[in-house]
Amino acid sequence: MQLPATRRAPDRAAALAQYRRRAAFYDQELVLFEPIRTEAIESLDLRPGDTVLDVGCGTGLSFEPLHSLVGDEGRIVGIEQCPEMMAQARDRVREGHWDNVELVCAPAATARVAGLADAALFHFTHDVLRESASIGNMLAHLKRGARVVASGLQWAPPWVWPANAFVLLAAMYSVTSLEGLGHPWDKLARRLTDVQVHSALMGSVYIARGVYQPDLH
Ligand SMILES: C[S@@+](CC[C@H](N)C(=O)[O-])C[C@H]1O[C@@H](n2cnc3c(N)ncnc32)[C@H](O)[C@@H]1O
Repeated sequence: MQLPATRRAPDRAAALAQYRRRAAFYDQELVLFEPIRTEAIESLDLRPGDTVLDVGCGTGLSFEPLHSLVGDEGRIVGIEQCPEMMAQARDRVREGHWDNVELVCAPAATARVAGLADAALFHFTHDVLRESASIGNMLAHLKRGARVVASGLQWAPPWVWPANAFVLLAAMYSVTSLEGLGHPWDKLARRLTDVQVHSALMGSVYIARGVYQPDLH
């Protein structure tokens, strides 16, 4: 088995296997990061009626807060490549009685979504953010001026070594390549304007936001 530290790029098959194993207990593992989710979703500036993409939606932990902002007249599209994670997302949608959540079980690089969205969330999706094809395909489904937010693990400054020990352990378990962990948002940011990035949890987590401009490559 190849370790994330030795891979130079994400490996979709390895990511699929990783989340197939984690799906049953994923929600419990994410508890520490829930305040980051709240902040990331607030940064999307969603309005009632908006359409939002939840890229790498996992088990759908973001659906309830997203739904509370876009309302019944809005639309949430969850994109996720792992069928076991998606099965839990589907159960969550059924239990929430949300008619306006669509689920697309496909890799971000090839997923197809009808229409153009007002916003996109990439919450703890390092592998997706390190693949230009995934970023390109997801952004192609956004309106000009759409709000985009990415959040997740990053290397803290080197002197905060306990935080970096934590990042290393968490990343070995949740991503397939450590490439770009010092600046996970940079490929995405090249396609956005008004980019703002800030850190939390002793520098071990980032939240980046910006505005999509189709003319930037
Ligand atoms: C750490 S989880 C985050 C899940 C969710 N965003 C959340 O906030 O809980 C990363 C998710 O990205 C999915 N994923 C990884 N690579 C992907 C890809 N290329 N296309 C779509 N989903 C992907 C994984 O299957 C996993 O569900």
